Amino acid sequence: MKIAVLVSGGGTNLQAIIDGIANGTITNTEICLVYSNNPNAYAIERAKKAGIPYAVKSPKEFENREEFNKALLATLKEADPDLIVLAGCLVVIPEIVVKAFPNRIINIHPSLIPSFCGTGFYGLKVHEKVLERGVRVSGATVHFVDEGTDTGPIILQKAVYVRQDDTPETLQRRIMEQAEWKIMPLAIDLLANDKIKVTDGKVYIDGYEESILG
Ligand code: GRF
Repeated sequence: MKIAVLVSGGGTNLQAIIDGIANGTITNTEICLVYSNNPNAYAIERAKKAGIPYAVKSPKEFENREEFNKALLATLKEADPDLIVLAGCLVVIPEIVVKAFPNRIINIHPSLIPSFCGTGFYGLKVHEKVLERGVRVSGATVHFVDEGTDTGPIILQKAVYVRQDDTPETLQRRIMEQAEWKIMPLAIDLLANDKIKVTDGKVYIDGYEESILG
């Protein structure tokens, strides 16, 4: 399976995918493109180090959003991925791209959807709201991308306990380590091995049991 990974920042999830492919946790998978909207994203350095083709296009380079959206679609079509992976990608994926890749785009969100998700819930803001509300459990979700924000079918989730002395930063880091870097590579491996089906908006995983979450 060929995957395109879309990033905007540090790229630790991208790194988890690169490492997973290298160490055999992710099988039957190659990264055909890393795409960033942000020229300063450290994720691009990670792609360079790993010898993976990359592209950088910022919406600012285009006259309007429609032109950017068209260029994004063209870049993706040219790379011809079987799956598009949003790994900390802050660009809202336009409808033309969602329609061109139905149930072939996945995203990692740093909370247990449907809590703490939707418009305005991204990056550290998610963890700030979690701490503000005082919930005891948060986590991460890998889901398919549809036309809504964080509304697509849920593939995998993993819970992480919130500590009373957590800051948004410590909670973010622990959710990455304990949840994101595990369930994103696992979801890709399951997809690459044809273990995932979507029926009536719900995901069925061949041979699923909670122990696969580690
Ligand atoms: C992660 O917390 C991810 O869930 C969120 O943005 C962050 C990206 O981190 N959508 P990185 O760029 O993979 O390090």
